[in-house]
Amino acid sequence: MSKDSCIGVFDSGIGGLTVVQSLVESMPKENIIYFGDTAHVPYGTRSKEQILEYVQADVAFLRQYDLKAMVIACNTADSVARETIMAQNPDLPIFGVVEPASKLAATTTRNQKIGVIATNATVKTKAYQTAIAKYNPDAEVYTKACPLLVPLVENGQYRVGNPALNIILVDYLKPLAEQGIDTLVLGCTHYPLLADAIASLFPELTLISSSGAAAATVKRALQDSGLERTGTEEGTRQFFVSDAAENFQEQAEILLGEALTDPVQQITLTE
Ligand code: DGL
Repeated sequence: MSKDSCIGVFDSGIGGLTVVQSLVESMPKENIIYFGDTAHVPYGTRSKEQILEYVQADVAFLRQYDLKAMVIACNTADSVARETIMAQNPDLPIFGVVEPASKLAATTTRNQKIGVIATNATVKTKAYQTAIAKYNPDAEVYTKACPLLVPLVENGQYRVGNPALNIILVDYLKPLAEQGIDTLVLGCTHYPLLADAIASLFPELTLISSSGAAAATVKRALQDSGLERTGTEEGTRQFFVSDAAENFQEQAEILLGEALTDPVQQITLTE
């Protein structure tokens, strides 16, 4: 493992690109390998056992490469499987999204009332409540599963003022706002794309992006371990998916706001 080794990032599909975006913004020199399990998305509606099986295959794929860190970009995968894959890969620094976002939310709230929106599977694990309690035992945490938000984002329906999106956001978020939360964790890879729409409807809330918080943690850890890639050369980015590479490429370029230098490659996962 050296400074030139890659940061491996995986997600159930396209959503983890919000984490890639944050990583690239804060560490443009790093080499990144991304795997999106597009053959099995969504994870958020599946059982724990099934999610664990998929995650182990994702990790096995990325471990073929020379990695210096791995980021579980998917909140669902992180909530369900992080402990298991950390135990199975003790030689590799593994970072999630739940812990950094929880820490940031726990120290951001002023009235000790935090809302968390996420997938069904993430909400079921209570991973956010557990992590927030570690950093702020006085905080009350209100969670809400928002299963309609991922398909809306995947279909490009995330812009401010979108009438269908607004109805759904108000339906999901009004009960949290009525509890008096002042801080809202966007506990799913897709939700940072909804930040502007949420802010336009609930301007009083401080929004915490799990993607941004995770990138900051990875950066600090690489600096502390002397593994941060320096120099003038921009890092490389390679993207792999388990299905429909062309669709992914199109969406990735829209999301990242730039053409990908290498084509997205489709691979077959070994079960
Ligand atoms: N990546 C998932 C997450 O962050 C959302 C999409 C899915 O359900 O797979 O929870």
